[in-house]
Amino acid sequence: MEAQFITGTGTDIGKTWLACALLRYWRGEGRQPSAFKPVLSGFDPLSPEVSDAGALLAALGREVSAAELDAIAPWRLKAPLSPDMAAAKEGRRIDFDELVAFSRRAIAMADGPLLIEGVGGVMAPLDDRHTVRDWIAGSSLPCVLVTGSYLGSLSHALTALEALQGVGARVAAIAVNETQDSTVSLDATLESLSHHATNVPLVAIARRRPQTGIARLAWLLC
Ligand SMILES: Nc1ncnc2c1ncn2[C@@H]1O[C@H](COP(=O)(O)OP(=O)(O)OP(=O)(O)O)[C@@H](O)[C@H]1O
Ligand SMILES: [Mg+2]
Repeated sequence: MEAQFITGTGTDIGKTWLACALLRYWRGEGRQPSAFKPVLSGFDPLSPEVSDAGALLAALGREVSAAELDAIAPWRLKAPLSPDMAAAKEGRRIDFDELVAFSRRAIAMADGPLLIEGVGGVMAPLDDRHTVRDWIAGSSLPCVLVTGSYLGSLSHALTALEALQGVGARVAAIAVNETQDSTVSLDATLESLSHHATNVPLVAIARRRPQTGIARLAWLLC
């Protein structure tokens, strides 16, 4: 199986950026990847192309149409808040079982590399009882944990790793996406992480030369 869940230590860490880079890489190799962003908050229906779903569709070479958005991002919420809060603002609730069933159907139908991007970080609440890690565990998907190299990222990464492993989720790789203008170097971050996150491949995504890390990650996942 070549399906992966893309999660992260938090919002804005680079999940979509990394997913798009992987999709383009695989397409460049002649493969036919697919991608989903089932739960999307902060969605502006007037500018769907700037949403995560829009970026993923563009990376897949697909049109950003209503039908395509429905296919890859059925839970679209307007408020730029955690999914539980954004859904409540619309008098809605994310049906966790339906979300897991949707993810499982997507995995069953894929015939190439498949990425499911989560929402926010590992412990972002989906409703009153479930967080993203429950979704990952419920979908039985291995995941890529995206983190950064900012001061504080080590604790965020190791806490997220513990949370995932605590529910039996398999972490296929930790992608350390270099934080711009950080006081901490990418190399030092990787060195320290390597002592604590043993048995999980660490992949460095350097701002200046991201392709090396993208190629290694693409290879690790397939
Ligand atoms: N390695 C990188 N090189 C250049 N830009 C990057 C890189 N990583 C992230 N970015 C940029 O940082 C911003 C946040 O990244 P991104 O949208 O991928 O985060 P995210 O984790 O998907 O956020 P969300 O929680 O909203 O889904 C985007 O503008 C993205 O293009
Ligand atoms: Mg995103």
